[in-house]
Amino acid sequence: MPRRRPRAPETEGTGDAPALDLADVAGLVGHDRCAASDLIPVLQKVQQHYGYLPEPVVEEIARLTGIPASRIFGVVTFYAQFTTVPKGRHTVRVCQGTACHVRGAHEVLRAVEKDLSVKPGETTNDLDFSLETVACLGACSFAPVMTVDGQYFAKMRGSRVAPVLGEFAGGAREGGDA
Ligand code: FES
Repeated sequence: MPRRRPRAPETEGTGDAPALDLADVAGLVGHDRCAASDLIPVLQKVQQHYGYLPEPVVEEIARLTGIPASRIFGVVTFYAQFTTVPKGRHTVRVCQGTACHVRGAHEVLRAVEKDLSVKPGETTNDLDFSLETVACLGACSFAPVMTVDGQYFAKMRGSRVAPVLGEFAGGAREGGDA
């Protein structure tokens, strides 16, 4: 039975999604109309507060700054540091590069998908973990490699996935069987 249900990007803003309180945006943006050159630090501040930059927040920033929302979305979608969907408190990256692939990265990825019940690009329903795949983590001699919040786990095996993720999980988790 799956332990977690993914929060798929397309579910954002529907059904059980909590209403966003936009009252804090003004304080984060500041009283002065910010110039386009100030946009990135403003977006960083707002994302740090809300955890992501959903459409209503971007539109509020646009209203407060006078910068067109389309332009702000252009910046948000261009830079990897910004996200329009909620991300987990922990980011799991599983390398799928050649060195890792030939040493069993697919097994590691399958174990992570099974343990978290998410696919790459998704976040667990409890917002504990986001899963990403990457082309190389720069540690090919330790393949297959995965990271959690930037911490490297070398020569991974599927059987090690649940114990590793269990160290990072915020809530109570069931025992691993990856
Ligand atoms: S290919 Fe996986 S770390 Fe380089």
